[in-house]
Parts: sequence; structure tokens; C-alpha cells
Amino acid sequence: MQPGFLDYLTATLSDIEAQGLLKRERLIATPQSGRIGLADGRRMVNLCANNYLGLADHPEIIAAARHGLDRYGFGMASVRFICGTLDLHRELEQSVARYLGKDDAILFAACFDANGGLFETLLTDEDAIISDSLNHASIIDGVRLSKAKRYRYQTSDLDDLETQLKQAVADGTRFRLIATDGVFSMDGHVAKLPEICALAERYGALVMVDDCHATGHLGAEGRGTPTLTGAGDKVDIITGTFGKTLGGAMGGFIAAAQPIIDLLRQRARPYLFSNALAPSVTAGSLKAIEIARAADDRRAQLTRNTQRFRAGLTAAGFELLPGDTPIIPVMLGEAQRAQDLAAALDKRGVYVAGFFFPVVPKGRARIRTQMSAALTDADVDFAIGAFAEAGRELGVIQ
Ligand SMILES: Cc1ncc(COP(=O)(O)O)c(C=O)c1O
Repeated sequence: MQPGFLDYLTATLSDIEAQGLLKRERLIATPQSGRIGLADGRRMVNLCANNYLGLADHPEIIAAARHGLDRYGFGMASVRFICGTLDLHRELEQSVARYLGKDDAILFAACFDANGGLFETLLTDEDAIISDSLNHASIIDGVRLSKAKRYRYQTSDLDDLETQLKQAVADGTRFRLIATDGVFSMDGHVAKLPEICALAERYGALVMVDDCHATGHLGAEGRGTPTLTGAGDKVDIITGTFGKTLGGAMGGFIAAAQPIIDLLRQRARPYLFSNALAPSVTAGSLKAIEIARAADDRRAQLTRNTQRFRAGLTAAGFELLPGDTPIIPVMLGEAQRAQDLAAALDKRGVYVAGFFFPVVPKGRARIRTQMSAALTDADVDFAIGAFAEAGRELGVIQ
């Protein structure tokens, strides 16, 4: 090893710690749910899983995954196009496509990979990507990998989007693709999809939505933000994950028109050069879609929890970002304050995580709380009480 390299890394880590930016991982020793048990024996109310419908420990999904394991074995040991495609993979792709109203879908090991493979495959240096400033890191990285010209608009600012579209047209670009999160993961607001699609139509552009924080729990049957906002099939490309609402295991997908999916299958690098989804995960995710589609009761509980928690924290005096998705960010400013409040909540039996730079901008640290249908009214009230007590103790609220 070249001398000095590890010392350099150690100094970088010390610097991260000194700035209050070090992320520490606590050990969980139970399934993911509304209440979880830590390895040290403590029981906690969990407010930070992407387990929006509470399906992560659903017995029917576990049984389906077990059946997949028994029937097809542990792993595929192949990428899809060599000897890694099961009938089950195609079933899951077709189920995603039917669910989201598209011709077809293609699976990836993660939505990070779906977003990583999308832009480079579909667009060239003759084309343009117009991207929301708050888009997820995987979209940002995917855009970087493509040769298309890049334009960025201030989050959800339609005037700015129009300015960027005009510029892209003036620059003589051939095809244009607007890329946006459906629900912005750090702030929790929903993209203005009908207006975005109208601008896309006016200036000639495709629309791509990353619906990781919506598929399964928002909109009719949980079909996500295109359905929730009424944009419907005007959205051309939907990317999503099985790692959140749809059972929470892992895996991503892209759903779109047939030629888009067909070309991705030929050219998307994370698809061509990465292993096929494990049979247990594929079978479990298939069951999760079936359950999510019919889970109006869970969606109603999720909405109740969201309203109850938001009202409780507002009454206690916390500053929340506005919105009505189950992502409820409690704004705290500096990273240390978010760390301190997270630690005070941990002591009181509430599991949350502080979010700070580089995950969110400097000075915009927060605790991003997320509601789940797995939480009971009593869990939500317990969490509100703990927030109020810890917030007063630290002087965050009066
Ligand atoms: C908006 C968004 N897109 C993509 C991803 C990546 O999804 P996956 O965990 O399937 O890679 C996430 C997960 O954090 C996300 O929040």
C-alpha cells in the first residue's frame, strides 16, 4: 500500500466526526416493523423505515419468499441474459407493468441501478435531460453517466422548468427528458406532475418519474404519484423499488413503453453486468404487489397516522416541512442539533435518524420521520410525547 493513504482516510474520518456528521449504525435484532427490538434488548417505536404499508414482515410475503427459495433455490449465479431469467422474473416484470399501466417492465438489483442505467441507454449527446434540483442521488449519478446535455431546474419551480426547456430547445437538442422524483425523499413533497406533463407536451419532452416513495401507498391501489396527481399515462417512464413499500427487501424496476424496455434489456449496463434478483426476493415482491394493490385498509391507517403525527408535532411547536405524504421532516438547522435530538429520542424509546450534509444541504439538518401503517395510534402518541419532552429538554421547542 502506498504510504500515507490510510492516515489520509483516518484524518478524513476524524474531520467528519468533528463536524458532527458521522453516521453510526445501531443493531436491530428483530424484523422490520412499527416496533423493533435492538440488539441491546431495548424495544423502540420505529419512525424511520420506508416500510410505509408495514409489509416488511407480512406473513404471506414471507411464505411466498420461502416458496420461491424452496422451488428455485438460493440464487441465480448469472445475469439475466446468460442463464439468470426465471419464469418468476418475467411474472414480476409483467405484474409491475400491469400495476403501473405500462407495456412492460425490467428488473434491476436496486432502483439505484435502474436510475443508473436509464439515461445513458436512452439518450445521446444530441439529447437533453432536465432534472429537478432535489432529485435523488441515483438520478444525479445516472444523469452524470449519460452524454446528454444537462439542465437543472429549482425544485418544483415550473417557471424555471419552462426556462430550461426553452433553453434546451434553443440549443437544438433532439429528444428531451424531464426527470423528477414523484415524492421528494428528503422533503416529502409531491412533484407537480400534471403541470410538468403539460410543459413536456408544449416543448416536446418525455417525463420520467422516480416513484420509490409512492409506489404501493399513494394514489388509488397505491399506483403512485401519476395516479395520485391525475397525470396518469402522460408520465412516460416510471422507476421504482421493491426495497420500500413493496415488502422492503431489495430490487428496482423501470416500467415504460415496449421499445424503451426492449432497448434497456439490450443496453442498460447495470442490467447486463449484474446478477439476477434472487428467487426468494422475486417471489416475495410479486406477492407484495398483490397485497399492496388491495391494501386500502393499510393506506387508510397510514393516512391517519400521518395526520395524527403531523398535528401532534405542530401543536408541540416543532417546525415541519409542509406536505401530506408520510414523510414528515422535523427541521433543526445544524447537524449537531439533529444528532442531539435523535440521541434524546433514542433514550426515550423512539428510533429516528438525523439527516445532515451531504444527504441534505448544510444548515438544513433534520430528523426525517416516516409514518407506517404498522404503527398504532398508541405508538404515534408515544412518539409525539417523546418528541415534545426531548425537544423541550434541548430547547428546540418552548
Ligand atoms: C427517490 C429514490 N430513488 C431511488 C432510491 C434507490 O432505491 P434502492 O434502494 O432500490 O436502490 C431511493 C432509496 O433511497 C430513493 O429514495
